[in-house]
This record gives sequence, structure tokens and C-alpha cells, in this order.
Amino acid sequence: MNQEKPRVKKVVLAYSGGLDTSVAIPWIREQYGAEIVTLTVDVGQQGELTGALDRARKNGAADSRLLDRKDLFAREFLAPAIQANALYEGVYPLSTALARPLIARSLVEVAQEVGADAVAHGCTGKGNDQVRFDVAVHTLGPHLRVIAPVREWNMNRTDELEYARAHGLSVRVTPDSPYSVDENLWGRSIEGGALEHADRAAPEEVFDWTSHPSEWPAAPETLTVEFDRGVPVRLDGVALDPVSLILSMNRRAGAHGVGRIDHVEDRVVGIKSRETYECPGALALIEAHRALEALVLPRDLLSFKAGVDRRFGELVYEGLWFSPLREALAGFLRSTQEVVTGSVTLRLHQGSVRAVGRSSEYSLLSHELATYGHGSSFPQELAVGFIHLYGLPNQLAHARAVAARARLGEEGTRAPGAVLPTA
Ligand code: ARG
Repeated sequence: MNQEKPRVKKVVLAYSGGLDTSVAIPWIREQYGAEIVTLTVDVGQQGELTGALDRARKNGAADSRLLDRKDLFAREFLAPAIQANALYEGVYPLSTALARPLIARSLVEVAQEVGADAVAHGCTGKGNDQVRFDVAVHTLGPHLRVIAPVREWNMNRTDELEYARAHGLSVRVTPDSPYSVDENLWGRSIEGGALEHADRAAPEEVFDWTSHPSEWPAAPETLTVEFDRGVPVRLDGVALDPVSLILSMNRRAGAHGVGRIDHVEDRVVGIKSRETYECPGALALIEAHRALEALVLPRDLLSFKAGVDRRFGELVYEGLWFSPLREALAGFLRSTQEVVTGSVTLRLHQGSVRAVGRSSEYSLLSHELATYGHGSSFPQELAVGFIHLYGLPNQLAHARAVAARARLGEEGTRAPGAVLPTA
């Protein structure tokens, strides 16, 4: 018993069934004297989750629970992310980041139900996920202590395996993979091992949802995504619930090699790291959503929304889902989506996804105005006056610059950073 640790009665531990969280069960019992209830949240990670329930009890948990939150994840977290075209640093669809607040909220709910005074998670002290879990738990359940064993113990993988052996733990027999994988409906993140060397291409073995170039179909595939107020509801005319729709997109886009992301990412804790993801469905759906927005939203709204989209993505990344700012932005985003209803045709081919067609009853594109063919109603003669006034500010500024140069002469123009009016 470590006397420095405070006594804790009951802990709800977010349990994946992997080595870290399996070792955490006896470790928390020993260090904090607490009873453990494990919680496994199904957010669409692959692999057999009911096995985790048995394993948790074998490893000393008093109770173990499994919650299927896939539908909630898709509706409450992924739908707004699509509406925001949410991509951290322009490339990462935030798959891991979006699931954390849902898992944290589930931990707090179960803690309330079973009368726990703490929750625990298996995050390290170097990543974003600890920030996301801790901040969300502090927000929703400020009375709860947060225990992060991996951040507290000083064990490497070998130490953990030895600890597991000494405690007779049942751990999932996985081949000794150097990679850390996090998975849910929205994507798959792979870290560690050879991937830590940003100068080298990711080894093929890390990929699971996206096909290798040698397997890419030679022919392109087109598919149609229909949106209702910014949320995808039909694929090729077939209405699907959000979970099935995303799973289907993952399969179809992944088969064409769409969705691989190789990113040098800026973590909240100040570290830059090389991150590798597979998010085929997310990238395809965001591409489609953007194409539809381009058709139905006016130019100034599109431009302003791009800034809101970016900020929304940053808040999600930074663990601030449960914040007034995120909620206010979500309100703005929702109101922009009233007209984002319509259909987009995507072409999947050789690792890429492109929107190649779009239509909507709310389209702002007027063929009659835009056509170069017969029957255009655009008043071209008015363009001359418009252009004159439009360019007037620059015309004035340029004339002023020319006059100033003439006054100062050659001397002035040669000085570096000359104090001359521009233009
Ligand atoms: N860097 C990603 C994020 O912060 C993923 C982190 C979790 N990935 C993992 N393989 N454990 O959202």
C-alpha cells in the first residue's frame, strides 16, 4: 500500500480490455484501496467487446458494464462534426477527440449510478486524451476524483507484462505490436513504433480500414449521398440510420484507399507528433457536405463559417466539448444547415474522393445567370459600372503612391521599407 495515495471507495474505470486498463484494475485496488467497476463504451471500435466484461471480472473488478453508445455517438457528436466540416489542422477528422467527451459523460453517469467517488482512464501523461477526459469529468462531475494509472505508475510495457503475470491477470493475447491503436466509427488512429519517425513513410502493416494501392479497383466508383439539414441520411437512394451509413461509407471509401492521413500534429500539451489515421467515411462525408454547402450557402456565410468550422474543430481537439463556446458555435452551425439539404455524387478512385455532382432544392446556382450559352439573363452592361466602383479604392491609393514617389524622388524609393504609401 502506498500511503501517499488518498483513500477512494469506488472507481469507475474506462476499460478497453487491453493491457494498460487490465493492469489498472489491481493497481488501483492496491494503491487507492478502491473497489473497481469497469465501463466499456461501444463507440464502434472493432473487436469483441463482451469479452472485456469477463476479463474485467477475472482481473478483479467488482462489476463490469458495457454500454452501446454508437447511435448516440453518431447523432450527438458526429452529425455536428459533419455540419462543421471538422478537420483539426485541416486534415484530421477528430475521430478520437470526438469520442472522449461521450466516454467521459458515460463515466460520470455510471459513477452517479453506482455511488463511485472517482473515475479512472488509461491515458498517458503526454497526450490529448487525458486533457479531454479530465476536463470533461471536472465539468460534469466536479465531485469526482480522476485517477490516471498510466500517468501515475512508472511502468513500461515489459514491467506491465510482468505485473500482469505476477497478479495472474487475464490479458488479451495480442501479437507483440509496437502500435497504440484507438478506433471508433469515425476512424482509426495508429501511433508508436516506426511511426514515431516522421521522416519515414508509414509501414503498410499499420493500415486496416484502407486498401493498399495494389488492391485499388482500376475503375472509379460513384455514389450518391443525400443530406437533410447537413446530416447524411441516404446512400445511393437507400435511407440508413447514421451508424449504418457511416459504416457503409468506411467500407466503400476504404476499399478505394481513401482516408489515409499522415500528419505532423500539434498536441494540446505542446508536443508535435507524427500521427497516422484512417478515416475513409469521415473524409468522404465531409467532402460531400462541403460540396453541398458550396451550392446552397452564400459567399459571405461560407467565408465566415469556415472560421467557425476551424474554431469548432479546435475546441473538440482541445477537450472543450462541454463548453459554452462550443455550444454557441453549434447553435450557429445548426442555423446555417437549414438549407443544406440535397444530394452529392462522389467519385472514389485510386485513393481519392471527389465531389463530381451536386443538386439541391435550395441551390443558389442559377444556370440562367451563369451560362455562357444562349438565354443568359445576367446584365453584362452593368458590369462596367460595378467594376469601376469596386476598383475605386485601389485606384485612389495607387495614384497617391505615384504622387508621393514623385515628391520624394529616387532617394525615397531606394530606402529599404521606404515610408511610402503602398499600391
Ligand atoms: N492524436 C490523436 C488525438 O489526439 C489520437 C490519440 C489517440 N490515439 C491512440 N492511438 N491511442 O485525437
